Amino acid sequence: MDMILLWSFLLTFSGSQASRPLAQRNTEFAVDLFQAICLSHKNNIIFSPLGMTLVLGMVQLGAKGKAEHQIRQTLKLQENSTGEEFSVLKSFFSAILEKKQEFTFNLANALYLQEGFTVKEQYLHGNKEVFQSAIKLVDFQNAKACAETINTWVESKTDGKIKDMFSGEEFGPLTRLVLVNAIYFKGDWKQKFRKEDTQLMNFTKKDGSIVKIPMMKALLRTKYGYFSESSMNYQVLELPYKGNEFSLIIILPAENMNIEEVGKRITAHQFLKWLPAMQEEEVEISLPRFKIEQKLDFKEALYSLNITEIFSGGCDLSGITDSSEVYVSQVIQKVVFEINEDGSEAATSTGIHVPAIMSLAQNQFIANHPFLFIMKNNPKESILFVGRVTNPDTQKMKGRDLDSL
Ligand SMILES: *[C@@H]1O[C@H](CO)[C@@H](O)[C@H](O)[C@H]1NC(C)=O
Ligand SMILES: *[C@@H]1O[C@H](CO)[C@@H](O)[C@H](O)[C@H]1NC(C)=O
Ligand SMILES: *[C@@H]1O[C@H](CO)[C@@H](O)[C@H](O)[C@H]1NC(C)=O
Repeated sequence: MDMILLWSFLLTFSGSQASRPLAQRNTEFAVDLFQAICLSHKNNIIFSPLGMTLVLGMVQLGAKGKAEHQIRQTLKLQENSTGEEFSVLKSFFSAILEKKQEFTFNLANALYLQEGFTVKEQYLHGNKEVFQSAIKLVDFQNAKACAETINTWVESKTDGKIKDMFSGEEFGPLTRLVLVNAIYFKGDWKQKFRKEDTQLMNFTKKDGSIVKIPMMKALLRTKYGYFSESSMNYQVLELPYKGNEFSLIIILPAENMNIEEVGKRITAHQFLKWLPAMQEEEVEISLPRFKIEQKLDFKEALYSLNITEIFSGGCDLSGITDSSEVYVSQVIQKVVFEINEDGSEAATSTGIHVPAIMSLAQNQFIANHPFLFIMKNNPKESILFVGRVTNPDTQKMKGRDLDSL
């Protein structure tokens, strides 16, 4: 199909009788990906399904045949391409850009291709239009210089928040195409925690050992639910960010449950059922202050989700370039995610002080053992991040952390 036609086709809502609504398909993909990553990662996890949708969407638009089909299946795109999914992404980014003063959202999204190959003009245009992404030519043979080039770009796109994405060792003589996705988000809570209420507390890791970590505390009115599913019990809490555009949903399994087992058994369906069932309640919250920084190569996870073709020689990426020697070598995502009392020193707190003698609130949400979290965009129902915290002691209690307690 003519590329221009394809684009307009993709960007049109065609009012398809989607068998499953977009939010559900997004969530299914997020859960699938989470479970695939869990196969090879045992500890803290943070990744962005939205970011992965972006990079895979970019490739998909230049892919044909089996390569295209596998991506569409895994992303749960409608069988008859409507492009609705990508229109949503596009409006998501415009909305985010408009509200930039309320939070920090930095995204670096690029496709790096070996020099010497030619990218089709229409593909360049289309990507810029829909995915706000860059397509760049580099020389992977010169691995160190190439890593520096990419790192500098990522760093500049994320206001210096994401550094040293590549070392150069990732690249070799056969590297052709590398997908790069880096995301940093920082927002203030709608209701902040008071710094002076943060205390060092025990956190029990999944192996039963204990670490002392800074635990934020507040008594808040917020959405809360207690759910029981096939003999597994969960407390679920929603903490909205300022502006109500984003929320963090924390899923805290009962203390005696194995977090890995929980990860295997949780489904998108459950999660989507919980959200509307949650009620505004007064909850006494204890939540670790933590920062997770993670770089993941998604190749293995995507393989286990049946995206294999784009990684093999001879795959059809003819929408991107005419050469048949191009295939994807790596899909790298780096995310930095931080949770603290408010994020900005000058801001005033609105959280209610929790008296030393515990309050009379009926609900206690004490995240002192491993939990899962999902950060979602409310209007677009996109899942920005999914994470699992097995050990919040990621900074080895650096000076600043202890000093402030
Ligand atoms: C998708 O396309 C096929 C044929 O191309 C058609 O039979 C089917 O009804 C279409 N499905 C939807 C949901 O439009
Ligand atoms: C915290 O853990 C230590 C063991 O590491 C234990 O001795 C102590 O009693 C625990 N504190 C609380 C309040 O449970
Ligand atoms: C991958 O493909 C195999 C074989 O076609 C199928 O059994 C499996 O369910 C697929 N996995 C996913 C996650 O779609």
